[in-house]
Amino acid sequence: MKDSIVIYDTKPLIENDDFVNKLICGDSLKSIKELPDNFVNLIITSPPYFGCRVYGNEILGREEHPLEYVANLLKYTGELKRVLHKEGSFYLNIGDVYFGTKGFIRNKGSYARKTDKHYKEHKIAKPDGKYLQYKQLLMLPERVAMGMQEQGWILRNKIIWEKPNPVPSYSPDRRYPVYEHIFHFVKSRKYYFDLNIAKRLNNHRDIIKCGIEPFGEHQASFPLPLIKPLILTTSKEKDLVLDPFMGSGTTAVACVELNRNYIGFEINEKFCKLAEERILNSEKTAEKQLPLKEIYQSDIHYIATR
Ligand SMILES: C[S@@+](CC[C@H](N)C(=O)[O-])C[C@H]1O[C@@H](n2cnc3c(N)ncnc32)[C@H](O)[C@@H]1O
Repeated sequence: MKDSIVIYDTKPLIENDDFVNKLICGDSLKSIKELPDNFVNLIITSPPYFGCRVYGNEILGREEHPLEYVANLLKYTGELKRVLHKEGSFYLNIGDVYFGTKGFIRNKGSYARKTDKHYKEHKIAKPDGKYLQYKQLLMLPERVAMGMQEQGWILRNKIIWEKPNPVPSYSPDRRYPVYEHIFHFVKSRKYYFDLNIAKRLNNHRDIIKCGIEPFGEHQASFPLPLIKPLILTTSKEKDLVLDPFMGSGTTAVACVELNRNYIGFEINEKFCKLAEERILNSEKTAEKQLPLKEIYQSDIHYIATR
């Protein structure tokens, strides 16, 4: 039986290699600060969205004011810029929300789920008649992206993730939201990008159509077919990939299957355990597979290294 890959405290980690192929259970801001400069080749992540799901003990996403959320998230992206290799990429998936709705589903200006403990406890700023108005789409992904540009990040693509099976979010007076953003940022003009692979996968286009795939108890997991093309295009085999909001461990599983190394941070112990079990299972399966295999999934076609 392999040793646990979850570490519950970053303090004993002295050598940089101690982080590699591990999940660190705790606040990722603290853990990112422990990493050396230019350490990881690729960052791919989806932080908690503002006022949406409650995962457990997290603070990010539960701020009273949406701009406080933007400011908090920018603390993470600033530190991530330091740890990303100068030729690396950062993919940030982030969803938007309507003011006062506490989630995608509720958008009529009232707290529809009054019985839900979190929704009762979650204080939200009062409408101000300007930015904070009921029914207002808050443009949070764009605000974070613009904040990152101010931090010196270079935005290369605003990828649209189109979902054939989105979370229901019906309203009689607006269109049905079926996409989220994935921002592709780099920190220098010269960065690793495999154009041939990009062309083979999804025709090199900036819209990826891919269904949502909750994993176990985690309702906001990345679908593997969404992130594998991103990993293949902007990292090499054996490269080190960081997901600072690891959730159910999808990024690590993709890394195992594509022969990359990973580091994952996750604040919620329950998800660390879920991710650990999932990663160990994927390692067992990956060992049995042939080294080269063509994979066809939905409308995405790519060559995986396993
Ligand atoms: C949108 S989910 C990520 C899901 C992930 N992409 C997956 O495939 O399962 C966001 C995750 O961030 C975690 N989280 C929230 N605040 C955190 C923090 N400060 N440090 C580390 N993880 C955090 C939550 O517990 C949640 O699992």
